[in-house]
Amino acid sequence: MKYSAFSRRQLLSMLWWQQPRYKDRDAIIADGSIRSGKTVSMTVGYILWSMSCFDKQSFAICGKTIESLRRNVILHLREWLPGDFIIAEKRNENRLIIQTADGRENSYHLFGGRDESSYMLIQGMTLAGVMFDEVALMPRSFVEQACARCSVPGSKYWFNCNPHSPEHWFYKEWVKNHKKKNALHLHFTMDDNLALDPKIKARYESMYTGVFYQRYIKGLWVLAEGIIYQAFNKETSVVPTEPRPYSKYIVSMDYGIQNPTAMLLFGLCDGIWYQVDEFYHSGRDTGRQKTDEEYYDDLCELVGDLPVRELIIDPSASSFIALVRKHKRFRVRKANNDVLDGIQHTATMIQEQRLLVNDCCEHTIQEYGLYSWQEKSTGGADKPIKENDHAMDATRYFVNTTKAWKVKDDYVPLLERQRQRGGYAIR
Ligand SMILES: Nc1ncnc2c1ncn2[C@@H]1O[C@H](COP(=O)(O)OP(=O)(O)OP(=O)(O)O)[C@@H](O)[C@H]1O
Ligand SMILES: [Mg+2]
Repeated sequence: MKYSAFSRRQLLSMLWWQQPRYKDRDAIIADGSIRSGKTVSMTVGYILWSMSCFDKQSFAICGKTIESLRRNVILHLREWLPGDFIIAEKRNENRLIIQTADGRENSYHLFGGRDESSYMLIQGMTLAGVMFDEVALMPRSFVEQACARCSVPGSKYWFNCNPHSPEHWFYKEWVKNHKKKNALHLHFTMDDNLALDPKIKARYESMYTGVFYQRYIKGLWVLAEGIIYQAFNKETSVVPTEPRPYSKYIVSMDYGIQNPTAMLLFGLCDGIWYQVDEFYHSGRDTGRQKTDEEYYDDLCELVGDLPVRELIIDPSASSFIALVRKHKRFRVRKANNDVLDGIQHTATMIQEQRLLVNDCCEHTIQEYGLYSWQEKSTGGADKPIKENDHAMDATRYFVNTTKAWKVKDDYVPLLERQRQRGGYAIR
């Protein structure tokens, strides 16, 4: 890799195992802000350590999924590592073989903590070390199983992640307990990545609010509490309902039988998504449940003669999806229902005023003011209170499924763009 200088913290996370002060530690934990250079420095360090201290041994490199691991780590190894390593990938075995010129050779098995097959495969292994990229996104059972496989003398665990809730098992078990676990704990912030362009850093800082700012920018393990969309306010997020030259429309729907149904009509105008209009019905509040046919009529009434082709809807609404397909007017797109990602991306769009709401959408505006995090312990997972959340669910489906939150290329660093074009594939 054509490195910019490594920061002190990056160097330490790479070379701690050589330092008299830290070399007897059993593990390293690098947590903190996004884009702070954790993955790069830890991966380089892990390979240097394993290649220097071991020969003919097996190691594990774990990501959230094998796919994300390939994208974030493996694809870049050639670029990151010094040229004297020879890397061969056995793709069908999810394995890398790394050699040095003087004949040392180790094997690196790739695992996805969320892939069921990984869990089965790691069970039978004997490892000399394991690296977890984004450990807080993996199930505890997988991480414990992988650690338990490290029976070779001198083996070490390498963890990195962005912070989550202080109730998260990894925080309680490892971060808080790092001394007892004989682990070196390094807290990263974006200042530890000297290669980060100040413009990009400023953009990241302006993207996040509330708990996401505390975690992703400050790198702190804080609880998600209070109102979820803190950046939503009537002055900056709500606009008068007036005709605009929308270039594209999409409807997103949260379907309920007992629970309320919300259908939101979104329109794109000059790069900004507006919530143009809404339909909202609560069987419970009105004392009248509607049939699927009636809801379909409501959908048609909401869109009128606008050129709406696409309906995003929760995949569980199977009867309604079948009905919409039968009528052949709308193309059904099953919603991406990842709650936290959806909330985070929606929060960013609101913060950047790329998602605005017409003032006729009263239910939605009301929900924005009420939608809150659960306060009681939820076992470390952030959860919204499941009330006043129907328009909020439909909004999140829209943002996450269309990827409306993604910005154009100008903010993507050059290196990243080259990678996305596949410039650094390992052969
Ligand atoms: N010393 C360096 N020289 C050049 N580029 C670097 C250096 N350190 C980090 N980078 C680049 O900065 C970006 C962020 O680094 P990295 O992915 O390691 O951060 P991270 O802390 O793991 O981020 P996240 O928490 O988002 O996963 C990457 O594009 C990486 O290639
Ligand atoms: Mg990373």
